[in-house]
Amino acid sequence: MATPLRPKAELTPVVETKAGEALDLTHRMRRNRKAEWTRKLVRENVLTTGDLIWPIFIIEGTNKREPISSMPLVERLSVDEAVRAAGEAVELGIPAIALFPHTDPAMRDPRGSEALNPQNLVCRACAAIKKEIPDLGLITDIALDPYTSHGHDGVMRGEDILNDETVEILVQQALNQARAGSDIIAPSDMMDGRVGAIRAGLDAEGFEMVQIMAYAAKYASAFYGPFRDAIGTSATLIGDKRTYQMDPANSDEALREVAADIEEGADMVMVKPGLPYLDIIRRVKDNFSIPTFAYQVSGEYAMIMAAALNGWIDGDRAMMESLIAFKRAGADGVLTYFAPRVARKLRERR
Ligand code: PBG
Repeated sequence: MATPLRPKAELTPVVETKAGEALDLTHRMRRNRKAEWTRKLVRENVLTTGDLIWPIFIIEGTNKREPISSMPLVERLSVDEAVRAAGEAVELGIPAIALFPHTDPAMRDPRGSEALNPQNLVCRACAAIKKEIPDLGLITDIALDPYTSHGHDGVMRGEDILNDETVEILVQQALNQARAGSDIIAPSDMMDGRVGAIRAGLDAEGFEMVQIMAYAAKYASAFYGPFRDAIGTSATLIGDKRTYQMDPANSDEALREVAADIEEGADMVMVKPGLPYLDIIRRVKDNFSIPTFAYQVSGEYAMIMAAALNGWIDGDRAMMESLIAFKRAGADGVLTYFAPRVARKLRERR
């Protein structure tokens, strides 16, 4: 038997407190935290600009930037301004942006026909950005809500959102965007079977290298409010999205959603919203080991910004803390409206 280097008693300095309780100080957790260099050394997770996806809102016009009152410092950009933002993204080291159109209400109809127009705003933005900034990843959203007069992600009959009819249109929408130069098709509609249908549609038209990022576990959330202001659907949305988006009370169901999307050919999956659903991110990552993304949605952004602008919290610190939380939960990357601000902050830190 090996002789212990030191007697056990010496290894366990037990100190008695004034109240007479024993304090075991063998392990002082604070040692590793005593200075910045050691904190850096033992840090388990890091956030880099390579983890960021920047969602951008697009409007008609040229040279136009429109503020969004419920999303302080975020603006809707005309296509030329979006090209400029895309250049900024590359310059900052952000790998990809995600485009969301604000469609003129006059162009919305019950079937969301504008989604299939090869010259719609998103398609023009895609083409313009691809031409000028070819090295930036371009993500486009699949769902009909920016285009429907009723604000739902699918077509309706009476009160119902029709699944299969909607999926057929979504496949056409995906092809329309792929032709315009989209690199990643991101279905956010939560119709059943859409990932497989879109994959088959893309492959049949020679777009086998276009990726699919599935909004796999997307919850019916109050945190999307400011986004709906941004794309102009808050005023028009009839009812809610609870017959297709998930119940916030569920977790096992998220795993079934993710499993289905992977089975149907998703290259990466997303959990949305972000911070209130970190447990879901962790379960998805542990169960499927697939590239997993979090969407820090508009309402999460708005909450941090509102508190920061009131001087109630340190906005930049809250921003960085919220983002490292996604990494800690297992996310490979985060869609966040803070993306350019975070990227600048990370650059300063080095
Ligand atoms: C719509 C869509 C939504 C978001 C992304 N795509 C809103 C919704 O489902 O109503 C939300 C993004 C955000 O809140 O930042 N298909």
